[in-house]
Amino acid sequence: MDKMWSGRFTQKSASILEAFNASIMFDRALYLEDIEGSIAHATMLAQQGIIAKEDALFIEKGLLQVRTEIESGVFEWRISEEDLHMAIEKRLTAIIGDAGARLHTARSRNDQVAVDFRRFVLRKNRSLSSQLKTLMQTLVDIAQHHTTTLMPGMTHLQHAQPINFAFHLLAYASMFKRDIERLLDSHARNNVSPLGCAALAGTPHPIDREATAKALGFDSVSINCLDTVSDRDFALELLFNGSMVMMHISRLAEEIILWSSYEFGFVELSDAYSTGSSIMPQKKNPDVPELLRGKTGRVYGNLMGLLTVMKGLPLAYNKDTQEDKEGVFDTIETLEMSLEILSQALATMTVKPHNMQKATLLGHLSATDLADYLVKQCDIPFRNAHHITGAAVARAQVLGIDLSQMPYEELRAIDERIGEDVMRFLELENSMNARTSQGGTSTLRTQEQLLFFQNYLKELDL
Ligand code: ARG
Repeated sequence: MDKMWSGRFTQKSASILEAFNASIMFDRALYLEDIEGSIAHATMLAQQGIIAKEDALFIEKGLLQVRTEIESGVFEWRISEEDLHMAIEKRLTAIIGDAGARLHTARSRNDQVAVDFRRFVLRKNRSLSSQLKTLMQTLVDIAQHHTTTLMPGMTHLQHAQPINFAFHLLAYASMFKRDIERLLDSHARNNVSPLGCAALAGTPHPIDREATAKALGFDSVSINCLDTVSDRDFALELLFNGSMVMMHISRLAEEIILWSSYEFGFVELSDAYSTGSSIMPQKKNPDVPELLRGKTGRVYGNLMGLLTVMKGLPLAYNKDTQEDKEGVFDTIETLEMSLEILSQALATMTVKPHNMQKATLLGHLSATDLADYLVKQCDIPFRNAHHITGAAVARAQVLGIDLSQMPYEELRAIDERIGEDVMRFLELENSMNARTSQGGTSTLRTQEQLLFFQNYLKELDL
């Protein structure tokens, strides 16, 4: 009977029970948070006169030794010890004796794991935000060189209106900015300490929850213990926020895949971030953006997984909750790698402005400008202007040219109210620069947006 909880048991655990019940194979990732949490708890117990000062010192010293053992790889993780909390406490007691057995006073594994996991997730909220910042910076750095690089803006994946490449990249910077804000917002909301909630109802010992909260970097102490020991909202928020990040990444990835095709030819990924085919020697494949798109699936899956684990759980702690960790670890690892490789692939990608420019000559991108001209200069109602422009587009199709290349005579033949000054409105660069409304694509407005993001990144303390 060597289990910490085996006092009332008369039979040994079945070996399949040990394997089924254990979390030690994965929860050891929380070792640092666990040791820091225990030191804060022991220090507070001594300050409150609940254990002796010298016991707290022994505990701290012993835990630091355990930490060294874990980090140097000599610590033995045994499935029979169930989880990291009991493994560490057991080793501590083996090193320092009786004092180690006093550590768990006024504490339960329920508040212990809530503290460890919450602090782990909060730390990742910040490091992921910082990686998102790097990604935004990469986008902004590329955008800086392309505020006059014309490309077709699309709707329905059909050529719509001319925009510039920087404007397109800054759309993604906008998404990643919201992602950062969501992570930091979640951090602020969830930075409350569960320590001292014990099993579910608090403890009769005269503990000081404020002191341990402060020592562990929490902003405050949780309000209701029954909620706190089974609350995994912080983990779900990370899974949702991560899903949102991956959704944004997969949209960008999809565009990079399209842009790298012969049909588009807008960008070329560097060889260092491309792969070949085992049979077709000529191939250069965009595996990186494809995997980014594909990995979005598992991150969404992790969110659905934990939402389902938590659904219908009665208060308070239930062992189901142990299923909260692997999906979160997987999401975090996936995000960390994805953000890293996406930044690198973007930074080393070749942009091909010439091909983007060439593509703007397909699809009559300045058609809206002709309609706007008819409204503004000829006082024609927009619906009629739309119709006249349609006729001009049909004529350009017949001639096999883009509307921006139509000879003036052809336009005049369609409607004699069209003056010769129309020609400059149809030019694609002018069309892009005409969109001067706030948040629009004109080079000046794009530069304004660029400056906004540059300042945002400068001030972002991550
Ligand atoms: N390994 C457990 C988990 O991750 C720790 C908490 C166990 N508490 C309990 N009462 N069995 O959820």
